[in-house]
Amino acid sequence: MALSPQWLDELRARITLSSLIGRTVKIQKAGREYKACCPFHNEKTPSFTINDEKGFYHCFGCGAHGDAISWMTEQRGLGFMDAVKDLAAEAQMEVPAPDPRAAQRQEVRATLHNVMAAAQDWFVERFNSAEGAAARDYLKNRGISEKTIREFGFGFAPNSRGQLKDALSQHGVDQLIEAGLLIKVDDREPYDRFRGRLMIPIRDPRGRVIAFGGRILGDGEPKYLNSPDTPLFDKGRTLYNLDKASPASRQTGRILVVEGYMDAIALAQAGFAEVVAPLGTALTEHQIERIWKMVEKPIICFDGDAAGQKASIRAALRALPLLRPAHSLQFATLPFGQDPDDFVKNKGKAAFEEILSKCETLDSRIWRNELARIGPEPGPDARAELLSRLQNTAKSIADVQIGKEYDRTFRDAFYERFGLKRQYFEKLKAAVNDVYDHPLEGRHKALHRAVMLGLMRYPTVLKTKFEEIGKLPLEDEFQKTWSSSLLDIALHNSDLTEDMVEQLLLDADVSPIAKRDFQKDLGYSFYKHHDDPTKPIRDLELVIDAINYDYEAKSELALSISKLEASMNQDIEEVHLSKVNDNHVSKLRENDEASRRLREILDLAATGT
Ligand code: GTP
Ligand code: MN
Repeated sequence: MALSPQWLDELRARITLSSLIGRTVKIQKAGREYKACCPFHNEKTPSFTINDEKGFYHCFGCGAHGDAISWMTEQRGLGFMDAVKDLAAEAQMEVPAPDPRAAQRQEVRATLHNVMAAAQDWFVERFNSAEGAAARDYLKNRGISEKTIREFGFGFAPNSRGQLKDALSQHGVDQLIEAGLLIKVDDREPYDRFRGRLMIPIRDPRGRVIAFGGRILGDGEPKYLNSPDTPLFDKGRTLYNLDKASPASRQTGRILVVEGYMDAIALAQAGFAEVVAPLGTALTEHQIERIWKMVEKPIICFDGDAAGQKASIRAALRALPLLRPAHSLQFATLPFGQDPDDFVKNKGKAAFEEILSKCETLDSRIWRNELARIGPEPGPDARAELLSRLQNTAKSIADVQIGKEYDRTFRDAFYERFGLKRQYFEKLKAAVNDVYDHPLEGRHKALHRAVMLGLMRYPTVLKTKFEEIGKLPLEDEFQKTWSSSLLDIALHNSDLTEDMVEQLLLDADVSPIAKRDFQKDLGYSFYKHHDDPTKPIRDLELVIDAINYDYEAKSELALSISKLEASMNQDIEEVHLSKVNDNHVSKLRENDEASRRLREILDLAATGT
C-alpha cells in the first residue's frame, strides 16, 4: 500500500505526541516541551524530551529519536501498518485503500505546486509591470511598504479572461483548472478566475503557494475572492501566514489570530510577525489544533464590530470541546468599529501591545457575552436561562476536570452577580451612601463655623452642651483651637456674656471674627440676636447633637460595611448571611430615620428668625 508522504504528514500533525507518549510514560511539562525518564534506557533523571510542535521525541542520554509512528513501532512494538492504523483511528483519518491512483495523486500535487509557483511569479510580474500601477497605488495608499510587498508576495491579476490562461499555457488547461486558476462552466471555454484583482498568495507551512486571495481594487463585490478548495488547498485547514508566524512565535511565545489577510499583513508590518488569519471562514477545529501546536494560549483579536465579536464567540464555543490542560484561547478586544489593521495604523505598535496586555480569558469572554445577552436587569426567567446556558456551555467541554472548573467558575460569577450576598451588599452600600451623602455632606466646615459663632452669641450653651461640644468631629485646625479655647473659657468663667467671650478669645490669641462668612453663616437662627433666645438656643443644641449623631452613624456604618465586606469574602451560607445582613439593614433603616430628623433640625435652624 502506498501511503503518500502528505498523508503521513497529516497523520503526524493530527496526533499530539505528548498525549500519545503520556499514556504509557509519566511526562512533565518543561517550557515548550515535555520531559520524561527515557523509556528506551534506564535512567533516574529525565533526559527524554518531547516536542509537540515538531512532532519528535529525542533522548539526550541514549539518542533515541523519532515521531508518533516510530514511537508505536519501536516502543510499543507494533508493525508499521498496525501503528499507522492505530494512529489513524485516533486521528479520525481513513487509511487509504491500496490504490495505484494514490501515487498518481501525489504526482498531481507535485505538478500543482509547480503551477501555483508559476502563477505566483506571473502575478508578481504583472504587479511590477505598467499594468500593475493601480495595484501598487492601492497598497501605497493603504500604507503597505515596499518591504512588506516583497515579503508577502503581492501580485496583480489583470482584468482579462485569458491572459493567465495564455501565459501559463505550457502547464495545460486541465492543470490550471485543477489549481483553481481557471474557471470552467459546463462546456464553455475555461477563463481566468482572478481578474482585475490585487493578488495575495496563501502559503502552506513550508512556504509553498497553495492558493490565492484576490482583493478588488477599491469598492465592488465580492471584496475578496479566494481560490476554491483544490488538492493543495483545504480552506478549513489552512491558516494564512502560518509559514512566517510559526518561527516568529518561537521568539515571542505568542500567536495572534486576526480575521483578515490585510489585518495579518498590517500587524506583521508593524512588528507583530506572529500573526495568522483563517481564510474568510469561522475558525475551525483543525485551525485551533494547529495553532495549539505552536502556543498554548493564542490571542484571538477579531474586528471590533458586531460581526467580529460574534466570530470571537463562535471561536470560543468551538474551542471548548477541544480544551485540554493548559490549552485555551485568550481574547483581545479592539475599540468598537476598528479592525487590527485600522488600529495599528492609527494608534501604533505600543497601543496595540497595550490592547494585547489586557487580554481576557476564555471563561471571562463567554461570561461577558452571556451577561450582555440578557440585558441589564434580568428577572428570574432570564436569570434561570442564563444559568442553564452557562451550565450547558460548561458541559460541552470534553475534558472532565476542565468542564468542572468552568462550571464552578460560571456559577461563582453568576452568584457573585445575582446571588443574595451580592444583592444585600449592593442594597447596603446604597443605603450607606445615602447616609453619607445626606444631609451634612460638604457642609461640615461651614456648619461647624456657624456653631462656633453661635456659641459665642449664646455662651450658655457652652455649659449645657459642654461634653458634646468636646466631641464635635472638627477637622479644621483653627476650628479645633477655637473650640477648645471656648471650652476653656466656659470652664474657668461663670455668667458668660457675648462681650466677655469675645474679649477672652482675643486674650487667648484666637481671632475668629475675621473668619466670619456672612453669606454662609447668616442663615442659622443662632447666628443672630433675638429678644427671646429660647429658640436659637434650642436650635444650636439640636444642631450640635445632630452633627455628633451624624458622625457616629457614619462610623458605625463604615464598620458595618467593612464587616460585611469581610463576610462577602467568606464562604458563609447564604441563608445565614441573609440573617446577618437583615440586622445590618434594619440598623440602616434606623439611621435613615435619624438622618431625616437631622435634616429637619438643620432646616429648622436655618429658617429661624
Ligand atoms: P480590507 O477591507 O481589505 O481591509 O479587508 P478586511 O481585512 O477588513 O476584511 P474584512 O474584515 O472585510 O474580512 C475579513 C476576511 O474575510 C477577509 O480577509 C477575507 O478572508 C474574508 N472576506 C471578506 N469579504 C469577503 C468576500 O467578499 N468574499 C470572500 N470569499 N471572503 C471575504
Ligand atoms: Mn480592514
